[in-house]
Amino acid sequence: MFITFEGIEGSGKTTQIDLLYRYLIGKGHDVVKTREPGGTPLGESIREILTKKGKEINPLAETLLMMAMRSQHVEDVIIPALRQKKIVLCDRFYDATYAYQGYGRGIDKDIIDYLNKLATKGVTPDLTILIDCLVENGLKRKIEDKGQMDRFEEEDISFHKRIREAYQRLSKEDTERFFVVDGSGEIEKIHETIRNRVDNYIESHRI
Ligand code: TMP
Repeated sequence: MFITFEGIEGSGKTTQIDLLYRYLIGKGHDVVKTREPGGTPLGESIREILTKKGKEINPLAETLLMMAMRSQHVEDVIIPALRQKKIVLCDRFYDATYAYQGYGRGIDKDIIDYLNKLATKGVTPDLTILIDCLVENGLKRKIEDKGQMDRFEEEDISFHKRIREAYQRLSKEDTERFFVVDGSGEIEKIHETIRNRVDNYIESHRI
């Protein structure tokens, strides 16, 4: 089973992945936790390039770096884990490219469709958990947690608002796959909502 987490900066998705990971491990499942950009040595190096402040990277170059990272990640980590019937939890996946490089940077959807098809080899999440929250609250949380912003986070507020809208739109285009959670509540309550959805999926698919 392949579960991805998406959301704007500071939505709390990384905290929720960690909680779900511990919960599923506790229930005896074989779980792999990974992230994009990242997930492999090459992917982590590409992440450093992409997130470093002050780097001049044009939108197409940014998209192609994401795809290089994704190709290696899918081949080395995601496909092998799914073949071994593990549950894969991934912090961001291809929806992030439609949101950030598509809606955020203006890269054509057809280009992203084509490159994603190559990079993912057709692998699609079974469930995508979108943690939705106000851009202002998300950015505030990022500053409180980290004290500084990376190359994406330091974009202006209108960029982040476009990303939030993009995720909302993507979730409406595929209501079967997306599960939208309000990220403004208490951490434990959000975890409970996510846990229930995942438990339901696991039971109905006999995983
Ligand atoms: P993170 O906030 O989940 O750590 O991810 C780092 C940044 O990478 C985040 O600002 C969003 C960005 N990103 C893209 O722009 N496109 C993508 O396809 C992915 C996976 C991430």
